[in-house]
Amino acid sequence: MIRNQWYGVLDSDEVKKGKPLGVTRLGERLVFWRDSKGQIICMKDVCAHRGTSLAAGTVCTDREAVQCPFHGFEYDSSGRCRLIPANGKTAPVPQNFHVEAYPSRESQGFIYIWWGEHREEYPNVPRFQNLAEKEFSYTLITDTWPVHYSRTIENQLDLVHLPFVHYNTIGRGNRTLVNGPIEQIRGNEILFWPRNTEDHGEKPLKQADFPAPDESSQHIHFIFPNLWQNWIAPSLRVAIVFAPIDGNHTRIYLRTYQKFIRIPVLKKLADLVMYRFSLKILRQDRRVVVTQLPDSSEKELSENLIRGDLPIISYRRMRESLKNSV
Ligand code: FES
Ligand SMILES: [Fe+2]
Repeated sequence: MIRNQWYGVLDSDEVKKGKPLGVTRLGERLVFWRDSKGQIICMKDVCAHRGTSLAAGTVCTDREAVQCPFHGFEYDSSGRCRLIPANGKTAPVPQNFHVEAYPSRESQGFIYIWWGEHREEYPNVPRFQNLAEKEFSYTLITDTWPVHYSRTIENQLDLVHLPFVHYNTIGRGNRTLVNGPIEQIRGNEILFWPRNTEDHGEKPLKQADFPAPDESSQHIHFIFPNLWQNWIAPSLRVAIVFAPIDGNHTRIYLRTYQKFIRIPVLKKLADLVMYRFSLKILRQDRRVVVTQLPDSSEKELSENLIRGDLPIISYRRMRESLKNSV
């Protein structure tokens, strides 16, 4: 894992007011809850008394606390225990009754946690670019894959697989020749423009053979550590958060956004059609990705990459550099 990053980990709708949610993310058992203002709070889901899951407890909104179900200890949003009922309401609580809290934020309908050292000030949470999400309607697909999140990301950076895995959907047309790839690196972001064509015996074109790309034509935009967007058209996008569960499981949150149909009844129909199409594509990917060995590209690899794999190569190179820089 890359330290000192904001990781997208949940859809905002998963954490309801008044109810703690327990999930495993980044290899830790975590509890999420909301305070009386609706602010998101995340802490380790292990009571400092005797290890019970706080997610099985209660949110006490009037006291801005989550209460352990076993012996009623209460923790505030910083993870400090404020009350040990057995010692009496007025008894001071020693400092060691504390669970670790993670800085957390919400952005564009997703929940992020900071994975790294605590700081005075944190960088901005990454955002899906050029996506004024309130203008769109969307459908959400969630799925858990039994692989490390690096494999799920690389799958969405893969230009070579399209005519094979997606031969009857987005890869239709037997466009096996991978031109370019046309790629731009911007800080911690990778953008690339698919230009696959049918193979008539010619060599693939190089990036320099194409005019400079811009963001008003279809492109893929990946933002470290785990956001991805397919900018298909001004009115159509697919956005994914690859939430790491642990070393070999990933929760995928895939939203298909559209704004080309706004009439309510037709909008529902369009959303449903796109949901089905996105689900079909994701299942096509899953079928092959879960067979890859090893299940993480962070492990020792005996792969042989080709020119068309450039976005994957860039991803691995940037990931290593980010891991080493913190
Ligand atoms: S285990 Fe949580 S209060 Fe005892
Ligand atoms: Fe795919």
